[in-house]
Amino acid sequence: MFTAGNTMKKNNSAMTVDADKRVTFDIERIRGDFPILHTMVRGKPLVYLDNAATTQKPLHVIDADQRYYHSQNANIHRGVHYLSEVATFEYEKARGKVKNFINAADNHEIIFVRGTTEAINLVAHGYGRKFLSEGDEVIISAMEHHSNIVPWQMVCEEKKAVLRVIPMNDDGELIIEEFEKMLSPKTKFVSVVMVSNSLGTINPVKEIIRSAHAQNVPVLVDGAQAVSHLKVDVRDLDCDFFAFSGHKLFAPTGVGALYGKAEILDRMDPYQCGGDMIESVTFEKTTFNALPYKFEAGTGNIAGVIGLGVAIDYIRRVGMDEIETYEHELLVYGTGLLSAIDGVRLIGTAKEKAGVLSFVLETVHPHDIGTILDMEGIAIRTGHHCTQPVMKRFGIPATARASLSLYNTKDELDALARGIGKVKEVFHS
Ligand code: ALA
Repeated sequence: MFTAGNTMKKNNSAMTVDADKRVTFDIERIRGDFPILHTMVRGKPLVYLDNAATTQKPLHVIDADQRYYHSQNANIHRGVHYLSEVATFEYEKARGKVKNFINAADNHEIIFVRGTTEAINLVAHGYGRKFLSEGDEVIISAMEHHSNIVPWQMVCEEKKAVLRVIPMNDDGELIIEEFEKMLSPKTKFVSVVMVSNSLGTINPVKEIIRSAHAQNVPVLVDGAQAVSHLKVDVRDLDCDFFAFSGHKLFAPTGVGALYGKAEILDRMDPYQCGGDMIESVTFEKTTFNALPYKFEAGTGNIAGVIGLGVAIDYIRRVGMDEIETYEHELLVYGTGLLSAIDGVRLIGTAKEKAGVLSFVLETVHPHDIGTILDMEGIAIRTGHHCTQPVMKRFGIPATARASLSLYNTKDELDALARGIGKVKEVFHS
């Protein structure tokens, strides 16, 4: 995995390239690609462990953003002039990159949205409002982010449908037998998260999809916390929808993608209406554009979409397998360190986990943990992480959460453990 190769200069950053033109996993070089990681915080080097909230951006993405506004900016699809052609070409090229990244069958199955939240709202409205009726059931899980609870709650309320929840055990693993029991002819939709943002659990979504499909029930997978940590193949999963955000994948904020199988997207109603999503408009009647444009009303985040494509190039060059292996090593190391600290209780101890270390410390509120760690230059997130039902399930108001990414190191995890030691000193806990 950590092989040496020739060094080349690209976008001001050195990368090691092997014979297959892939960047090999060299942590120092990778860290060199992310300028913000060299920030000093209160006189200490930044230790950025808030990657589940948002990831930092490599120079390649920062440069692409600047390049777009410097020399490519124009509106897309509608112009006949040179810059519009350039911007349209770059935007559509990014769609192809997303398609390849998650192995969708066709570019028109990729819809650009603001992020996972908008993607789920699009499906809840475009599919749920059209196809749900009184007494139907929608199944979600006990570890959903609020963005995969509230849209379904609202649609269920409107349609007099019932929202059901797959329970989880004390390790933060879904109880799949309970899910199997819930499936019935009343079930009309399943929407589940692939990797929990507050627990780190990797859910058996392929198994969930197989069981739902056996009853002809479509499944949406919330991939927000999955895409930068695990290889995703939507055709292998056979999910009907897959949603993710760019900013958790080293791309800018305000951009993301919804994958949907074309035959389902074709049957759905548009979520928002306006320019670009129509075929023809008269005051009497409007007909809609073809996929994916039917779901892309108005001018989108063109620079963000292009940046998403560049972020995907970056991740692919580093190698998803290498990232997964490296982050797993970090997770095992961090779990060992934190478990050894007296008074620390890890929340989320599933066998299958991605890089999230959520914890509580007896007698110290997570916000105090976060504040003291910040004094040490360590950025973590504290709170309910937009998963209040998870907090309720574990009987806690909040957790402190360190979340990992490909540029983190064992030294940083050592710093986290030392920082928790300081918290304990301050609070005599
Ligand atoms: N959903 C994001 C998180 O988990 C914001 O931090």
